[in-house]
Amino acid sequence: MSGQRVCISDFEDEAKRVLPKAIYDYYRSGADQQQSLADNTAAFNRWRFFPRVLRDVSTIDLSCSVLGQPISMPVGVAATAMQRMAHPDGETATARACRAAGTGMMLSSWATSTIEEVMSAMTSSPGDSGVMWLQLYIYKDRDLTLSLVRRAEEAGYKGIFVTVDTPYLGRRWDDVRNRFKLPSHLSMSNFTSATLAFSEGSYGNDSGLAVYVAKAIDPTLSWTDITWLKKHTHLPVVVKGILTAEDAIQAVDHGVNGILVSNHGARQLDGVPATLDVLEDVVSAVQGRCEVYLDGGVRRGTDVLKALALGAKAVFIGRPVLWGLACQGDQGVSEVLELLRSELRLAMALAGCRSISEISRSIVRRVEFTSRI
Ligand code: FNR
Ligand code: LAC
Repeated sequence: MSGQRVCISDFEDEAKRVLPKAIYDYYRSGADQQQSLADNTAAFNRWRFFPRVLRDVSTIDLSCSVLGQPISMPVGVAATAMQRMAHPDGETATARACRAAGTGMMLSSWATSTIEEVMSAMTSSPGDSGVMWLQLYIYKDRDLTLSLVRRAEEAGYKGIFVTVDTPYLGRRWDDVRNRFKLPSHLSMSNFTSATLAFSEGSYGNDSGLAVYVAKAIDPTLSWTDITWLKKHTHLPVVVKGILTAEDAIQAVDHGVNGILVSNHGARQLDGVPATLDVLEDVVSAVQGRCEVYLDGGVRRGTDVLKALALGAKAVFIGRPVLWGLACQGDQGVSEVLELLRSELRLAMALAGCRSISEISRSIVRRVEFTSRI
């Protein structure tokens, strides 16, 4: 039995012990030399707090909203594929934990549970409140793509996060070495054909997932496809994977409802900046015309507070949820969410912010490191 888990890295340490190596490697990896992976977390350490005191912080209100849906705290779950590799209940366990926490979950197109079964896990007990969004990969087959959107609409999902940073899969060295593919008892459950469900096919000496993406996902994607998607759904559309002010302006001009500043957990183009380092550029380019969120490297309540001070409406966590799942299924994910909630509440109190709207730009300043050599 494990010791007490007091921070997110305790969950990762335990997950590493219990998961098969190829699965842990897939979840953990970044692309290539993993420079951006290290930077995503390091970036938070380049900012310092300038707290305000004597403000009666006996009550702290963490409630906020994403795309008009109320959630209990500004921390939601980012899409991570194939969660049943971490725990037999997979995405349904994550949904139960999000429901109990009153927050939102972005379901991957490549989930090992169906759009419908995850929604019923999210809504099975009256009174609890959680929100589901669908993360969408645009397939070469547009009818197939739209069928995922339709199913999400019918099941009661509240938005589509369309991933725009994956025309091809980034190269993750461990996945190539491990020839990563799904364990044979699992499949990407939203697809009926074995080839599309990633449960069958020949993948050679490569990451099986990279081969799958090259076959199925459309690298011709362009801004006109965002217009196409907006035309075909009444749900709000968020573009996931924006890193520049220029693309943020394009996104707003194409009518998106939100922008998720993301480098895909540093799994795509290595050498891109940490998401925290580009957040302010995007926020100022957008000028309030849509909501802006961030993911990548969020591991502590203080990270959440820094991202919000720099203009994020909410943040999303990817790997920490997988570590929670691997440790203890829905209970593990609940622990991860409640840990971040209590860390954020404490950080806000110590910084003198009683509600999300009181978090202002003035509580953080970037520190410049100079070499002592
Ligand atoms: C991801 N991510 C991802 N993104 C997406 O749009 N669709 C997906 O299916 C997946 N799958 C996926 C699997 C795994 C194992 C990881 C680690 C990540 C990216 C994810 O949504 C998010 O952008 C990052 O995970 C955020 O960074 P952190 O919190 O993991 O540092
Ligand atoms: C990944 C894909 C699933 O990052 O988005 O592995």
